[in-house]
Amino acid sequence: MLTTNAPDPARSPSASTGQGGPSTVAVHAGEARQKPGFSITDPIFASSTYTFADTQAIVDFIEQKQLREEYGRYGNPGERVVEDKLAALEGGEAAALFSSGMAALVGLLMAHCSAGDEIVFFDECYHRSREFCRRHLTRFGVGFREVITADYEAMEAAITPQTKFLVSESPTNPHLSVIDIERFADLGRRRGVHTLIDATLCTPYNLTPLAAGVDFVLHSATKYLGGHNDLLAGVVIGSKELLEPVRTLRGIMGGVNSPHNAYLLERGLKTLALRMERHNANGLAVARFLEGHPRVERVLYPGLESHPYHAVAKRTMRGCGGLVTFFVKDADWRRTADVVDAVRIPRIGPSLGGVESLIEQPLVMSYWNYSPAERASFRIADNMIRMACGIEDAEDLIADLAQALDRT
Ligand SMILES: Cc1ncc(COP(=O)(O)O)c(C=O)c1O
Repeated sequence: MLTTNAPDPARSPSASTGQGGPSTVAVHAGEARQKPGFSITDPIFASSTYTFADTQAIVDFIEQKQLREEYGRYGNPGERVVEDKLAALEGGEAAALFSSGMAALVGLLMAHCSAGDEIVFFDECYHRSREFCRRHLTRFGVGFREVITADYEAMEAAITPQTKFLVSESPTNPHLSVIDIERFADLGRRRGVHTLIDATLCTPYNLTPLAAGVDFVLHSATKYLGGHNDLLAGVVIGSKELLEPVRTLRGIMGGVNSPHNAYLLERGLKTLALRMERHNANGLAVARFLEGHPRVERVLYPGLESHPYHAVAKRTMRGCGGLVTFFVKDADWRRTADVVDAVRIPRIGPSLGGVESLIEQPLVMSYWNYSPAERASFRIADNMIRMACGIEDAEDLIADLAQALDRT
C-alpha cells in the first residue's frame, strides 16, 4: 500500500503559471501561493539530503508518483522555483540551473555532443565559451568551427552532416553585434541542427529567443538575472525533452547551486523588469553622451542609429541593455587606462548586469596575455573601454564620464 506523504510545499500545484507581463511573471512565476510557515518568501532549505518517511516513500519517488527532492546534487526546492520562474520568463518548457554560466554551457554541450559531432560558433562569442570548445571539447573528439559574427551564409557553409549545434551570443560582448534571431533559428531548423543563443546581454526582458524558434537559451545569471553582483549562476532553458539529458548530466557532474544561492537569484529576479528598464535607459543615455563627446572616437551601442546592427535591434529588441563600448580618440592603451582610472562612480572590474556600474579596458582585463595579432583577430583595440551601466542616475554617470574624459 502507498503511504501518503505530504506534497513538497515548494512544489504546490497552486504554483503560479507565469501569466502576465514581464514584471508580474518575474515577481510571481514558479512560486507556490501558500508556502511553509505562511511566509511570503520562499524558505531556504539548507539541506544536502532529503529524508523519506519509509521505504514505500522511496519507491513512490523512484516510480515518479511523488515529485520531491532526494539529494542536493540532483536539485533543491529553491532551485526548482527559480528554474520555473526562468522558464516562464523565457516562454520555455523547462530550465536547468547551474553554478555558473560556464557550467551551464559545458553541461549543455557535454550532454548533447558525442565524439564525431561538430559545433559552429559566431566568432564574437564569449572567449571562454569558445576556448572550452577549441581546447577541451576537441580532446573528446568534438569538432569546432568559427565564422564571422552575423555572416549567416558562412555559418550555413560551415554546416556538415556532423554539425550538432550552431552557437551565438546576442548582443555580443564587447562589440554588441545583434543577431537576426529569426534568421539564425531558421538556419538551424532548415539544416536540422540545434541552435543555442547565449542571451546573457539581452535578458528575457529585452528579447525571448525561444519565441523565434531557437532551441536553447543560455544565461550567465551572474549578470542581469541575479542583478546585484553578489552571486554566480547559469541557466539553460528549452524544451523538457532536450533538457532532460542536461539535467541528468548535471546530477553527475555536480555543478549545482547551493540553496542560499538559489534564493539570492530568486530575490534578484523579482526586480528584473524594473532594473532592465533602468539599464536600458542608462545605456542609451550614456551612449548618446559619449557619441557627442570630442574625446570619443566611436561608440558601440545597438540603440544608436550609428550602430551597424541598429535596425535589427530596433526590430527585435525591447531595449539594448546597459553595456556600452567606446574608443578614446588618439589614445594608446596607457592614456585609455587613465580614463578608466579617473572615473569615480563605476568600479573598475569585470562583469556586467549588476546595480553597480562597472568599467574596464578589455585589453587589460581580459586580453593582456594575448599577442597583438590575437587581439587584432578578436577586434580588441588598445583604446577600447567597456562600461556596464548600473542603475545609478544617468546624469550622475554622464557627469562622471565627462570629468574623467576632460581631466585626462
Ligand atoms: C556572454 C557571457 N556568457 C557566459 C559567461 C560565463 O558566465 P559565468 O561567469 O557566470 O560563468 C559570461 C561571463 O562573463 C558572459 O559574459
